[in-house]
Amino acid sequence: MRSETDSRPLFRTRTQVGIVGAGPAGLMLGHLLHLRGIQSFIIEDRSEEHVIERVRAGVLEQSTVDLMHEVGLGDRLSRLGLRHEGIHVAFDGRRHRIPLAELTGGRAITIYGQNEVVKDLIGARVASGEPLLFEVEDVGVAELDSHLPKIRFRLKGGLHEVTCDFIAGCDGSHGICQPSIPASHVKIYEHVYPFAWLGILADAPPSSEELVYSLHERGFALFSMRSPRVTRLYLQCAPDENIEDWPDEAIWAELMTRLRTRDGWAPNEGPVTQKSITRMRSVVVEPMNYGRLFLAGDAAHIVPPTGAKGLNLAMADVWRMAQGLDAFYRSGSDQVLRDYSARGLRRTWRAQRFAGWMTSALHRGGNDDAFEHPRQLAELEYLVSSRAAMTSLAESYVGGPLD
Ligand code: APR
Ligand code: PHB
Repeated sequence: MRSETDSRPLFRTRTQVGIVGAGPAGLMLGHLLHLRGIQSFIIEDRSEEHVIERVRAGVLEQSTVDLMHEVGLGDRLSRLGLRHEGIHVAFDGRRHRIPLAELTGGRAITIYGQNEVVKDLIGARVASGEPLLFEVEDVGVAELDSHLPKIRFRLKGGLHEVTCDFIAGCDGSHGICQPSIPASHVKIYEHVYPFAWLGILADAPPSSEELVYSLHERGFALFSMRSPRVTRLYLQCAPDENIEDWPDEAIWAELMTRLRTRDGWAPNEGPVTQKSITRMRSVVVEPMNYGRLFLAGDAAHIVPPTGAKGLNLAMADVWRMAQGLDAFYRSGSDQVLRDYSARGLRRTWRAQRFAGWMTSALHRGGNDDAFEHPRQLAELEYLVSSRAAMTSLAESYVGGPLD
């Protein structure tokens, strides 16, 4: 990284927790630590605009909403978030409502874009005056199994080294932290699904107050939203497709075909402001820590988006990590940190189970599809006609308390 003869200045900093990545996981961790009087240093390799603007998930579980309020960031969420007490599942031309709140003792989901969460968290970080550096380059982590692990990076040509008590790897699915763990200390479980999601944002008022998950003979489609003026829509496509091959008219035609129901309901159309294709996979990294490096969020696990769990799992991770670090600094005990991975993996596999089930129930074209499709329809018929089956979906969808 740096040779003996290198004459560039080296800036050295000391912190308690070095955080790599300023997505929702890294930023929420920094905020939780700040509230507990623990110092942190956050670095991010993209620009602030990019981190705020990129379009990501939008469904907050009840526990994520509660956490935002607990940490003093509930104001904009209360004003702009859309609380949904139910979702619809559509197949065979009909929509069926699943009353989430009624089935779970009042728990619900809230539609609030991940970028809004990130905006709130960056605002809190800036107000705290603690370090948050964007557009850093050549990030590396070292001495992970020592008591003083290091983060090194370049910023505007200068070399920096941050000596930490702990490093939090919150750098997402393409980060450097997880690959820095020696291969002999980690097991990676991966499943690649044979399809992708094409997603659009459209300036069109949502035509349904609640989400619609649809299985059509041409494949999955999802109706969602971001605000009373913006609709978010997805359709299943092949994993190797290019967004350039999908003109807006073709996307709308396919969405209308897959979403329109016999009662005449369909999404409203409007100008498309963003579109992209995302491949679908599941990943679980076990364990979620190595030495003094702790992974959180997409750096530790990826879930297919069908269950809307990615952002919520990230929040649960950093809540647990902050508890462990708090216990360490208060009492010197690392017991909570030692349980961090096992507790996180239990929640992660629960989310993989649910997201995998939702995905297989609603997408076409897996193995043996001629048999699978009628089986899927039977599954969905059962789901919408059994209170027990709906309760099972509702419990997982709204999510359990942080643990
Ligand atoms: N150095 C610094 N930052 C990095 C590096 C690196 N080498 N590599 C990646 N990053 C940054 C990314 O630019 C990104 O801003 O780490 C951040 C990771 O953020 P996310 O990808 O948003 O992941 P996470 O915070 O775990 O959020 C959970 O839930 O809805 C899902 O996938 C969705 O992003 C969402 C996730
Ligand atoms: C979204 O609004 O982006 C969204 C909603 C539900 C999902 C996934 C994504 O399952």
